[in-house]
Amino acid sequence: MAKYLVTGAAGFIGRSIAAALLARGESVRGVDHFLTGKRENLVGLEAMEFVEGDLTDPVVCAHVCSGVEIVFHEAALASVPRSVADPIATNRNCVDATLNLLVAAREAGVRRVVYAGSSSVYGETPTLPKHEEMLPAPITPYAVAKLAGEHYLAAFSRVYGMENVTLRYFNVFGPHQDPASHYSGVLAIFCRKMLAGEQPTIHGDGAQSRDFTYIDNVVAANLLAAAAPGEKVAGRFMNVATGSAISLNQTFDLLCGLTNYKGKPAYGEPRSGDIKHSLADIRLAKELLGYAPQVDFAEGLRRTVEWYRNAQ
Ligand SMILES: NC(=O)c1ccc[n+]([C@@H]2O[C@H](COP(=O)([O-])OP(=O)(O)OC[C@H]3O[C@@H](n4cnc5c(N)ncnc54)[C@H](O)[C@@H]3O)[C@@H](O)[C@H]2O)c1
Repeated sequence: MAKYLVTGAAGFIGRSIAAALLARGESVRGVDHFLTGKRENLVGLEAMEFVEGDLTDPVVCAHVCSGVEIVFHEAALASVPRSVADPIATNRNCVDATLNLLVAAREAGVRRVVYAGSSSVYGETPTLPKHEEMLPAPITPYAVAKLAGEHYLAAFSRVYGMENVTLRYFNVFGPHQDPASHYSGVLAIFCRKMLAGEQPTIHGDGAQSRDFTYIDNVVAANLLAAAAPGEKVAGRFMNVATGSAISLNQTFDLLCGLTNYKGKPAYGEPRSGDIKHSLADIRLAKELLGYAPQVDFAEGLRRTVEWYRNAQ
């Protein structure tokens, strides 16, 4: 019987959490319906019980939650531009799926759902760093949907006594992030292109900055959130990031060194719904979880380039 369920297990972050659990010898079930996830992301996860299913279907949710103690809920249509193009699909795969999962989890006696929240809920307020006492101000359908999920988690803690926790991720990057999609994280796209000697495009002037967070830090935060005392974390939300930001222009320069790319970037139109700067205050996750980033940006970027180099 699986103790842990990972939703979105064929996606970038879900497969990374599942791999870490399996490496610890845990019993893991994963669910995905390959909306954006990839079958190749399941390679190496053969010890996981995998269910191909869509969480917008309550029958699938009931099936995958049975016997589970802790859920890591990573499944979502995780893209700002896609939500701008098709807000209904975003709502279905983020909000409907999350609510179905929570109902099934409660009925199955799941103790805790750890939810992949998003820094996008802060919107474009100029205050930096973003801290959890700020009022959310989502500006895209994606951010609205991610915020709705958070509120559902907290409400289920309040009214049904579940120990749900939200981790608001800030721009996660690392091995297994899909570089082929137009909607991919910018680092995944840059790594693939620059390793292939192709010119990457920076949308906007490149001065925009992000608190890029290496995947191992996000996985560690999830494991800590699963293990933290319920009375400390139930119904809470907190930032998971590194607490430092870097601009796209600086990132491009670092990548030139790592990939041996000699050219300049192209500059294109800013993308609809993109915010200018993003930087997290990570003190709450430290206080509640004992979280501290273990891999800094430069080392994370080095490992990521290495992975894409070998994956080419
Ligand atoms: N990558 C980031 O920088 C980032 C930042 C903030 C928050 N997040 C959140 O982290 C989570 C994981 O993101 P990711 O980058 O790994 O994205 P991803 O697209 O690689 O993974 C999401 C996975 O969920 C699956 N999925 C979507 N809808 C589903 C459904 N209805 N039923 C079953 N499976 C479904 C997809 O097929 C995919 O495999 C998402 O919830 C996302 O909103 C990611």
